[in-house]
Amino acid sequence: MDLRRHNAAFCGEHLSRFCRDQVTRAIEDFDMIAPGDRVLVAVSGGKDSLALWHILGELGIEADGFSIGLGIGGYSEASTECTRRFAAEHGLHLLECDLRERFGTDVPTAAAAAKRVPCSACGLSKRHLFDSAAVEGGYDVVATGHNLDDEAAVLFGNVLHWHTEYLARQAPVLPAAHGFPRKVKPLVRLAERETAAYCIVNGIDYQVEECPMSAGNRHLGYKEALADLELRSPGSKASFYFGYLREAADRFRSDGSAGEPDGPVPCGRCGAPCSGEICSFCRLLDRAGAAPLAVDGPPVAVPVRLGRSDQPIAPHPGASA
Ligand code: AMP
Ligand code: FES
Ligand code: ZN
Repeated sequence: MDLRRHNAAFCGEHLSRFCRDQVTRAIEDFDMIAPGDRVLVAVSGGKDSLALWHILGELGIEADGFSIGLGIGGYSEASTECTRRFAAEHGLHLLECDLRERFGTDVPTAAAAAKRVPCSACGLSKRHLFDSAAVEGGYDVVATGHNLDDEAAVLFGNVLHWHTEYLARQAPVLPAAHGFPRKVKPLVRLAERETAAYCIVNGIDYQVEECPMSAGNRHLGYKEALADLELRSPGSKASFYFGYLREAADRFRSDGSAGEPDGPVPCGRCGAPCSGEICSFCRLLDRAGAAPLAVDGPPVAVPVRLGRSDQPIAPHPGASA
């Protein structure tokens, strides 16, 4: 495989090593994971998050997986299936939250009820559930599979519209704040073409289809525009994104916090930090007529038993049950 931005070409073995090295470098450069941290990887069943879970294992970083059943028809079922199969094959511990089972709703229904575009309701739900699952399980860090293409496209959109409040959050690490875990993106040094190739050479079976609800969204348009630039000028994406982090990101971060738009007032329902009485996720559930989240309610994430995957990482003493 040729990597024009690195002016290099790799065989399968060296590509795998390259990917591991890039993840190691991202983790070290941005202090993403410290020894002894309990790590929860958010796994969609796509190439990025499965490659991430695999690479962390190869690097000796133990991590449990967390998968959300979004209820987007066959797409979600097939994605969850890829995640479960990977966990079972590698003897990894997987936690799951199915929106239908846990709340009686799903992304398409909640988005329609709240008159939101599906990707926005979906993103809001995922962010909230990553936090809840991590807090519940006593994890220090949530790792997601966002890659260089994702981050460069988000940056492009935020600069195009000068969303300065979002620019503040555009770091590969968001420190823990308000009792919530650190969020890290260890794949920021890898392009999606590279994570796909990593999966192929390592025999990882992933969900190849794109989410059917994302067709035509603006983010995909930004990705295409940047892909075009990258083709003409290899390395543009990396120089745009890492240049921003180096030159400007600090100017947008005023208080060194995770930059969450919500303030530190606990949500009246679920206890998450929010700026009003009820957090955005609880409001979304309300509008969808779904089962509410409550501080002392049933857990968000439940472990699934999968063949060999019956060895969870021991919780910290301080972790809630
Ligand atoms: P996306 O928002 O679909 O671009 O996904 C970004 C990252 O969020 C993925 O790389 C995963 O780490 C995580 N993620 C996306 N969908 C899910 C899901 N259904 N369950 C758990 N994690 C997810
Ligand atoms: Fe969230 Fe498609 S994965 S709307
Ligand atoms: Zn809430």
